[in-house]
Amino acid sequence: MRKATSKLYFLITFVCAISGFLFHYKISAQNSVTQNHRRDTVQYICHKNNMTSSQWKIKHSVARQLYVEHTHKFIYCEVPKVGCSNWKRIILLLNSSLGLTVDELKHNNVHISPLLRRLSFYSWKMQAELLNNYTTVMFTRDPLERLVSAYRDKFLHDELYYYSKKVANRIKSRIRKNGNLTERLSFKEFASFIVSENATYRDIHWTPIMELCDPCNIHYDIIGKFETIKQDAAYVLRSIRAPKNLEYPDIKHYANETRTNDLISKDYFRSLPKELFKKLMNVYRYDFPMFDYNPYIYLQINI
Ligand SMILES: *[C@@H]1O[C@H](CO)[C@@H](O)[C@H](O)[C@H]1NC(C)=O
Ligand SMILES: *[C@@H]1O[C@H](CO)[C@@H](O)[C@H](O)[C@H]1NC(C)=O
Ligand SMILES: *[C@@H]1O[C@H](CO)[C@@H](O)[C@H](O)[C@H]1NC(C)=O
Ligand SMILES: *[C@@H]1O[C@H](CO)[C@@H](O)[C@H](O)[C@H]1NC(C)=O
Ligand SMILES: *[C@@H]1O[C@H](CO)[C@@H](O)[C@H](O)[C@H]1NC(C)=O
Ligand SMILES: *[C@@H]1O[C@H](CO)[C@@H](O)[C@H](O)[C@H]1NC(C)=O
Repeated sequence: MRKATSKLYFLITFVCAISGFLFHYKISAQNSVTQNHRRDTVQYICHKNNMTSSQWKIKHSVARQLYVEHTHKFIYCEVPKVGCSNWKRIILLLNSSLGLTVDELKHNNVHISPLLRRLSFYSWKMQAELLNNYTTVMFTRDPLERLVSAYRDKFLHDELYYYSKKVANRIKSRIRKNGNLTERLSFKEFASFIVSENATYRDIHWTPIMELCDPCNIHYDIIGKFETIKQDAAYVLRSIRAPKNLEYPDIKHYANETRTNDLISKDYFRSLPKELFKKLMNVYRYDFPMFDYNPYIYLQINI
């Protein structure tokens, strides 16, 4: 009797261990299938449009978007409006010699933290070596949703003087015929500005993701998506062997406001003239196919 019970326990433990193993195996297999698919899609679009160059040298503007964390050999490409403040917090938390906690990292100081190292800080030779040796990660988001998020964040809040006054007034004086700067910048005006501005001087908050991170020439190990940020961030943290208790923080800049989602975005695009919408799609024409987003879901509501 005793023997039979212990056999049973042994069997149960064994079955649990196997199924636990299979469960984790299944998740990591799913992750690598997803990652392979995302990388292949990027490469396909790059080749199709002749955007991979053999004589490539990393651009300074791209090296400035990349942040380096040495302990975990981690390089992260910053795409504004795609959870980048939280990734900067993670990079600071990963550096154990700093001994920081999540609570200490309030939103406003993380972007100007002198403790973060950009890849552009290093010599060109070192940059190439770090890109080769480290785990490179970038995150994407639906380009049009990202645009709405940038508009809401930068132009609907008056405490950000640089954007809500300086940049907004520059855009208004370009776009408004009557020159009256009193009324708030509208989304339509913002969109009109984006399609007519000189791309050389475009602000990083609405520069296409493809230009910020140059995935045609930098082969990212992990391409995460904002839409599945919890799973993808967990995958990144496991891959770089981050401490097990470190989680992707879920901190919003404006805690009392709804995060920009597809319903909110569709509302903004519903009011745009079709011609303007098409020009806007043209600005982000590579981001859609490269990162597997569908602009037609917006077009349908716009007809
Ligand atoms: C691709 O670009 C290179 C120069 O960057 C050019 O020489 C070549 O003709 C282009 N190929 C196609 C198919 O456009
Ligand atoms: C941790 O941060 C300090 C201060 O920026 C830096 O000097 C050091 O190299 C960082 N350590 C690692 C391993 O990145
Ligand atoms: C990169 O890896 C190579 C080969 O393993 C090694 O010799 C080199 O020191 C590494 N460089 C850096 C910056 O980690
Ligand atoms: C500018 O527009 C605001 C609101 O529409 C109006 O109250 C104001 O008088 C206008 N200013 C000028 C100089 O036209
Ligand atoms: C944009 O600015 C760059 C740099 O000043 C200039 O060379 C280029 O001609 C401009 N493009 C357009 C379309 O005005
Ligand atoms: C959110 O809170 C800020 C002050 O903290 C306030 O100015 C703003 O109106 C609030 N927004 C909403 C949508 O309640």
